[in-house]
Amino acid sequence: MAKVPKVKLNNGLEMPAFGLGTFMSKPNEVAEAVKYAIDRGYRHFDTAFAYENESEVGRAIREKISEGVVKREDIFVTTKLWCIHHEPSRVEAACRKSLENLGLDYVDLYLIHFPVGFVYIDEKTLIPCKEGTSSILTNDVDYLDTWKAMESLVKAGLVRSIGLSNFNAAQTERVLKNCEIKPVTNQVQCSIEQNQKKLIEFSRKRDIIITAYSPLGRPNPSERKPSFFYENPTKAIAEKHKKTPAQIALRYVLQLGTVPIPKSVTKARIDENIEIFDFELSSDEMKLLDALHTGERVGAILKMIDNDHPYYPFKAEF
Ligand SMILES: NC(=O)c1ccc[n+]([C@@H]2O[C@H](COP(=O)([O-])OP(=O)(O)OC[C@H]3O[C@@H](n4cnc5c(N)ncnc54)[C@H](OP(=O)(O)O)[C@@H]3O)[C@@H](O)[C@H]2O)c1
Repeated sequence: MAKVPKVKLNNGLEMPAFGLGTFMSKPNEVAEAVKYAIDRGYRHFDTAFAYENESEVGRAIREKISEGVVKREDIFVTTKLWCIHHEPSRVEAACRKSLENLGLDYVDLYLIHFPVGFVYIDEKTLIPCKEGTSSILTNDVDYLDTWKAMESLVKAGLVRSIGLSNFNAAQTERVLKNCEIKPVTNQVQCSIEQNQKKLIEFSRKRDIIITAYSPLGRPNPSERKPSFFYENPTKAIAEKHKKTPAQIALRYVLQLGTVPIPKSVTKARIDENIEIFDFELSSDEMKLLDALHTGERVGAILKMIDNDHPYYPFKAEF
């Protein structure tokens, strides 16, 4: 069973340097995946209110705790505040709802999922759109006000650490200049095709860890086929190390200094993805993979948000 090292966060707590993603893991399959992953050495789980699977993720973790396989303190659980809950008055209730879904007293990490707030209609309308269009209704809640409400959650003991997701460097700096509690991480897309080198360097200097989402480029032969995953030089490097392209892609972002959280509900892939701590890519191999950066972003939702919104994060270079 693979042994995953831990990284130290800027608040003195630790986070396993690798985790299991659960976006688009269906409720009927995610509990099995989480339980299997715990048996295989995974200790870090990433979910979100918006993934609508917190209950199953939490149930799987609690089952493994009651079986005596792990203790609560061995497991690192991340969930996220969704964009309809950015108004400060909604933040605590949203966090308590996530805790209730998970069946846990606290989460290890709570993130602002995205810097842009959406109009609140009701708890079920996660993506409020203008009638007859696929254009999201946003609001102008300042993420600094949301951040203050996130800080209160730490003080209330509901969450151990707080962080950001999909924030650019200027937005991160603005939080840092105005916060009482620093974000421990910024969870962003990071893979061979979107290597985030500038944001990683910026964040490293400020003691903020980058958590790498979509580290495999979300490969799925019927929907998305990132060439870096299926072609050379990744394939050739994989053959040389007797590893798979997925393991090369994950080792690459690990060596960039990030914490990868690949998603899988497939047992063989859950096994495969964690086996990245027993080999190293050379600096020449890292350079070959660096050259595959295209800057492409995954995620259909990005196309639905008005990119003129003042807090839209991806117009900036990084
Ligand atoms: N903060 C955010 O805004 C944000 C956005 C996106 C994602 N995330 C988080 O990051 C996690 C990972 O990102 P992601 O799910 O977008 O993409 P990803 O992990 O790069 O890719 C997941 C896809 O790759 C497949 N896969 C997994 N291991 C594989 C392997 N060894 N070989 C071939 N295919 C493999 C999975 O299929 P199977 O499951 O069928 O095996 C799934 O279709 C998410 O699940 C979520 O927790 C956060």
